[in-house]
Parts: sequence; structure tokens; C-alpha cells
Amino acid sequence: TPLDRIRNFSIIAHIDHGKSTLADRLIQQTGGLSAREMSEQVLDNMDIEKERGITIKAQTVRLAYTAADGIEYTLNLMDTPGHVDFAYEVSRSLAACEGALLVVDAAQGVEAQTLANVYQSIEHDHEIVPVINKIDLPAAEPEQVRREIEDVIGIDASEAVLASAKSGIGIADILEAVVTKIPAPKGDADAPLKAMLVDSWYDPYLGVVILVRVIDGTLRRGQQIKFMQAGTTHLVDRVGCFRPKIEQLQDLGPGEIGFITAQIKDVAQARVGDTLTDAKRPAAAALEGFKEVQPVVFCGLFPVDANDFEKLRESISKLRLNDASFSFEMETSAALGFGFRCGFLGLLHLEIIQERLTREYDLDLITTAPSVVYQIELTHNGGHIDLHNPADMPDPNRIATIAEPWIEATIYVPDEYLGSILKLCQDRRGIQKNLTYVGGRAQATYELPLNEVVFDFYDRLKSLSKGYASFDYHQIGNREGDLVKMSILVNEEPVDALSMIVHRGTAETRGRGMCERLKELIPRHLFKIPIQAAIGGKVIARETISAMRKDVTAKCYGGDATRKRKLLEKQKKGKLKMREYGSVQIPQEAFIAALRMG
Ligand code: GTP
Repeated sequence: TPLDRIRNFSIIAHIDHGKSTLADRLIQQTGGLSAREMSEQVLDNMDIEKERGITIKAQTVRLAYTAADGIEYTLNLMDTPGHVDFAYEVSRSLAACEGALLVVDAAQGVEAQTLANVYQSIEHDHEIVPVINKIDLPAAEPEQVRREIEDVIGIDASEAVLASAKSGIGIADILEAVVTKIPAPKGDADAPLKAMLVDSWYDPYLGVVILVRVIDGTLRRGQQIKFMQAGTTHLVDRVGCFRPKIEQLQDLGPGEIGFITAQIKDVAQARVGDTLTDAKRPAAAALEGFKEVQPVVFCGLFPVDANDFEKLRESISKLRLNDASFSFEMETSAALGFGFRCGFLGLLHLEIIQERLTREYDLDLITTAPSVVYQIELTHNGGHIDLHNPADMPDPNRIATIAEPWIEATIYVPDEYLGSILKLCQDRRGIQKNLTYVGGRAQATYELPLNEVVFDFYDRLKSLSKGYASFDYHQIGNREGDLVKMSILVNEEPVDALSMIVHRGTAETRGRGMCERLKELIPRHLFKIPIQAAIGGKVIARETISAMRKDVTAKCYGGDATRKRKLLEKQKKGKLKMREYGSVQIPQEAFIAALRMG
């Protein structure tokens, strides 16, 4: 396809503003799918994506569109993941495009992820076409949203398309705007092949599928290609595009987006951001900005039933086939037995993996508290440790310094909830950097330790603002802090899966909260159970679960033997859901519930 007939664009939006619905409409309008096929949203592939309404893996669809000028254009629509956890994938998809449709909900207006995504898009020099969606809603205020786009984002919205993806309003105008406003790609067909690896995923039939954007040269079937970062070479055995059904092609030229397969077995060999070139005639330099994504949030995953350990190992390995950004290694815990320490890009990523294991692989899991990665320098030139697991914290005497990752968070919230949100940030050791107001809403910028955000910050933010606050963040590096390991002792014994790293200043409040919640979560036993929070040897908080009377059968007035046995059986079954720890039974929910901060 000649360059001037190609348009590459993505759709950027805050979650739920209608990105997937609009994408499907564009596909339908250009004839990619019949109305029946449309009944399912096509761009969101996985079940969980559909249920959660978020897009995890970027997908691209090629559309054929005959514009008002009578010329048929090839439009490549990239679906980008909307969530911060997948920021790097978003950035790569944006780098593959020349423009973006900025979708803003006519009833909700601009939100935190709208801003985060649009700024990224501007950084990639995109032409941005504003689309005000959901104008069919009674609460729609398109004119106010138009002003908001101009005031808050600072782009011209006078020609914003008013649309309803749901009822099909404005779709033709959007397609026309893509052709007339978004520039055609540039590229040199005669230069050595240079293509960007935008995404990769594992397909059971095709093996690893790689989504590419060709910058220069041509990518052909049968070509020997080289991955410039990975240093590996592969033979291209398929070239094609999605319409959205797979269509095989002979080649992809400059400016084109499509997929290849090259008999690659593992997605880890095809990392997003790598540069593909011709093995025999390589490009002089790789594309800039390649970044290996590193997990930032870690937690332990343990089977509730110890016999499920092998099943868990197999399931985790399978998931990893399709997600190179998630890491795991075996872990043993005195309280929880054998399991895995897993690394994720963020909390949502963690939840998605956990949910898939539970649902698709039918596993009952115990998840330990999420932890960030601490950088520890040891005394006496003892070296450096990347600490992923609070249980592995070295003795305090051996620690010279501990640093923790910090983020810069942008929070967007209606004025009426601002007070409680600012307090939340302060309680979490936040440092306010900026606070501005736009039309009844405030935008607050805070620096926060990631550690204070990973657990329940997002949930708190949503509940304190009745769902109206939106939040986005990026990492800003590590900072030293007065951090200590807080152990939880149940019946005088430390429970490693409950230990956590906390700031000394907030340790006591945290410790007290933990003990109080555990007191409610652990059932009474025949004896008194002290629950303590301690730093080093020093107890900083304590609660006691008082003893229960004799066992339940005592109620049966001795006589009936079968009834007694039944009760004991019942009691036994109840125990299966517990974790025996020393002589104390801790219910599985306690491990995660205890960590929710008030
Ligand atoms: P993520 O994938 O989570 O980023 O969400 P999204 O932006 O793709 O939103 P999606 O297309 O899933 O739409 C979110 C909700 O808004 C769905 O319930 C849609 O049916 C609804 N929706 C989308 N467009 C419109 C519209 O034009 N009008 C109305 N009334 N509802 C819409």
C-alpha cells in the first residue's frame, strides 16, 4: 500500500468511556464484521477482559475505508490497554501510530487516565482527534466537555466529533476525520528493514504471534530476521493482518502494521519494544526506547490444599507463556507451605493473574500481602539486596540503608471529595506537589511511596469519592526511608506470611490495625491466643483472643454418638479451610483481610 493511503491510529480514553464499543463500530462500518459477529465485542479477546471491561493486550485491526474523496484507505486501528499497569505497552502501541482518537465520555468529562494517555500521545507527536462519546445519554453535556478538553488538556476541540458509539451516531464523521486529520506514515522502502515489535502473544495454533509496525524496508514471508535487542534470528513463516479475522499477506511495507510468526516458542523471546531487522542486511541502529519491563509488585501465591502445588506450578507456567512481564519462583513459607513468589507490573496485573488461576485453572489460592521491591545496602560492604519478600529481610544490624520505590500520582476528583482524598494521601506519607481546580474538579499531584499504594489505595480512593476520583501514576525512582520489618506473632510465634515492611512512623498504627483485625478473623480456640505486632524484639501492639469453652460436642449432652460424630466431621471440614499454625488455626481469608487498612 502506498504510504499516503495508510492511516495508523489508536483510541485513547479513560476506562469505560467507550473505547471498545467505538472500535467495534468502526470495524462494523467498514465491513469487517457482520452485525451478528458484532454482538460480541471483538477487540477484547479474553473473558476476563470482557467482564472487567478493560483491555489488557493491544490488538490491531486493518480496515478498508473509501473516503469522501473516492480513494480507498487502509486504516490500522490499534487498541491500547488503558490501565497504568500496562503503561509500557500503551507507549509502544502509541509509537506505532501517527494519531489518536481521544474519546471522552460526554457525561463524565476528562479523567485521570484521559490526561495520562493524551499526554503520552502528545509526546509521540500524534495528531489528536477529540471524540465526545455517549451523547445519547440524558446526562450528556457535550459543550461543557468540549470546554474541558480545551481548558484541561489544552488542545483545540472546536471540531470535536459528537458521537454515540452505542447508537452509531457520528461514526462516519470519525472515519472521515481519521483520513483528513491524521497524517500518513513516513518511511523508506529501499532502506534496510526496520520494524518495531509492538506486542506479542502466545497462540496455541500459531505459536508466538508478533505484532509489528514496519518503519523502513519490507518484511517478507521466508525472510531471515534478527531481533536487535534479543540478538536472535528467526525465519518468518507467516505474514498477515487482522481484519479482524486473520488474513495472510506476502509482505508488509513501510508504514504498515501487521503480524508475523517465526516459530518462536516463548513470548519472552519476543519482547515488546525490540527492533526487527533483516539478518543479512541489518539496519544501522535499533529503534530507541527499548525497555525491559520489570515487575514492581510481588506477592506469594500458595495453594489452599497443599496437594495442589503441582497443579499450581503447571497453571502458572501456562499463564506465563502468554505474559512475559509476569515472573515467578518457588517459595516456601512456614505458615503456608510450598508456593510461588510472583512479580507483577502492578496491582491490577496481580488481580488478573490471580483471578485467572482461580477461575480458569480452578485453584484455591492464598495470596500474601503485596510488596514492592526494596533496595537494601548492607553494612561493612556486605553488598546489595533487592528485597522482594519481607520474610527475607536481613537482621537490622546488617542494614546500612533501605530505599523504596516512589511514584508521582495524579488524582482527579470532584471538589466535594477533595478533603478526604488529601487526607488519604497524607496518611500514606504523600507529598503534595500541585493542586489545581478546573470546573468543579480538582487535580492533585502527589509523590507517594509505592508501598503505601499497592495494597488498597485505589479501593480507598474509589470508596472515599463514591467512585468519582480517578488516579494515574508513574514511578519516579527509589528513595531512602526509615523502614522496618513488622512481624506478627500469633500465640507467641511469628507468622512469616503476615510480616510486612512499614515506615517506622506509621508502624504502630498499622500494627494495632493488624492485631485488631486478626482478633476478629481468627476464631476462638480452647486456649487464650495473644496476637502481637513487633519490630525486632519489641512488641508495639497487642490483642488477645479469649479462650472458648470446651469443644462443640459438649453441647450434645453426651448421649447421641452419631450426632457427636457428625459434629466432629463438620468441625474437621471447617478445619480444611484453615491453616494450622503451631497450635492455632488461621482462616485463609485472614492472610489478605488482615492487611486491609482502615
Ligand atoms: P475499557 O476497555 O475498560 O478501557 O473500556 P472502554 O473505554 O473500552 O469502554 P467500553 O467500550 O467497554 O464501554 C463502556 C461502557 O459504556 C459499556 O457499557 C458500553 O456499552 C457503554 N457505552 C459505550 N459507548 C456508549 C455510547 O455512545 N452511549 C452509551 N449510552 N453508552 C456507551
